[in-house]
Amino acid sequence: MPKTERGYRCSACGWTTIAYVGRCPACQAWNTLDPFAEAPKSPIARRHPPGAPAPLLRLDQVPTDAAARFPTQIAELDRVLGGGVVPGSLVLVGGEPGIGKSTLMLQAGAALAARGLRVVYLCGEESPRQVRMRAERLHVAGASIDLIAEPSLDAALVAAEAAATDVLIVDSIQSVTIEGLESRAGGPAQIAEAGARLLAFAKSTGTATFVTGHVTKSGEVAGPRLLEHLVDAVLYFETAEGGALRLLRAVKNRFGTTDEIGLFEMTGTGLVSVENPSAALLAPHSPAASGCAVTVIIEGSRPLAIEVQALAVPTTLAAPRRIAAGIEPARLHLVLAVLARRGGIPSSSLDIVANVAGGLRLRDPSADLATCLALASAIHDKPLPPSTAFLGELALSGALRPLHQAGRRLAELARLGIATAVVPSGTPAAQGIHLVRAATLAEALAAVGLSGLSVRTVPHHDALEQPQRSEETHER
Ligand code: TYD
Ligand code: MG
Repeated sequence: MPKTERGYRCSACGWTTIAYVGRCPACQAWNTLDPFAEAPKSPIARRHPPGAPAPLLRLDQVPTDAAARFPTQIAELDRVLGGGVVPGSLVLVGGEPGIGKSTLMLQAGAALAARGLRVVYLCGEESPRQVRMRAERLHVAGASIDLIAEPSLDAALVAAEAAATDVLIVDSIQSVTIEGLESRAGGPAQIAEAGARLLAFAKSTGTATFVTGHVTKSGEVAGPRLLEHLVDAVLYFETAEGGALRLLRAVKNRFGTTDEIGLFEMTGTGLVSVENPSAALLAPHSPAASGCAVTVIIEGSRPLAIEVQALAVPTTLAAPRRIAAGIEPARLHLVLAVLARRGGIPSSSLDIVANVAGGLRLRDPSADLATCLALASAIHDKPLPPSTAFLGELALSGALRPLHQAGRRLAELARLGIATAVVPSGTPAAQGIHLVRAATLAEALAAVGLSGLSVRTVPHHDALEQPQRSEETHER
């Protein structure tokens, strides 16, 4: 192992010395010497001899690796990765502790090993015995995976390179150590350095490298987020509160679409790809329940049917509560404001709880109408018509914006057997589903018999510009 360099460095001019002195002899400044300790350079990073010119590569002569993806055969993981594992890529798998990162990595490792690839698993979090026990639970204990229980990253990388590894799994980035670096394992300096060394390793050896990292719910903890800019792909595991559904989301992917999500269910024998996510996400509810509205969002490349649920109860507080899970609080406030002003359904005396069944986070604004109708239905405690979905983004004026990818959304609803969809006007007809077109929120509310109790005020100039919309004004 190369030795760590230690000494004192002048913070003013950069002069270094082994022994401390009060005044820098180079720049004559007083008390500017700070201690330093520099990690030895990684054996992987020192591939080019110092001073040698970097090779030039012609763009059109760079070999493409399009053909060289390895599918893991775990359908939802392949989807999120963009078709499989790319040699030489570095992929970060983040998520809260206990969500299933190690389980997914072991399953993927076993699947890749079964295809004849050389898989090395660096188990920094657990002992090899624990990994073996998990493998037994996953029915992959016979997989030809090599384990490394050594916390030193450099030692592990040298071993992995010597073993001509195709796939390296580092579980987790917080548990590996860089020898000679003065900070603790899992600290920002260690994580950044470990990430840089893993990147150099992946690129120089062509090894597909996965690295897991713990992220807290709020995602605030530095840690693995430091690596996001560096790695080729960032996959985050998310879950519903206490649910068995797991969502793997690509927030960055240099080899595929971002925002692609994969759905898994955590079972007694590991993670299982969910084959019909819409059906899994549409929570079964009694048709008589108020406050439930179905919609279709586009996540990555696929449409997903989901259900927005809302509850409204009289408040006991001066400022009523708004509790949202899966819906951005700002979006919920916007929708409530539009509902009050344009739909004539105020909620200022109500506590509102809204969530998305299945634990998905809504990002697609086309879920606005469903959120709004779930809220209206909850406020009136009147169920929405059965087998009906609501699609459309709300403008502050209460108008429904045109629907993107309407055909794919409606096809998904038809596939699930949903009979009717309330959609923005101008949405083209689709097979297998009846459309009710509405230009505004007020029209959509009227279509389901939930018109506002109070009068919607239309500003005068609004009425002048769009005289054809004047019939939306509802008088009690
Ligand atoms: P794990 O992969 O260890 O999570 P992470 O690496 O993200 O911290 O998953 C641990 C959880 O998954 C634990 O609560 C047990 C559960 N689990 C199952 O339900 N079924 C299984 O087959 C396995 C292996 C784990
Ligand atoms: Mg783990």
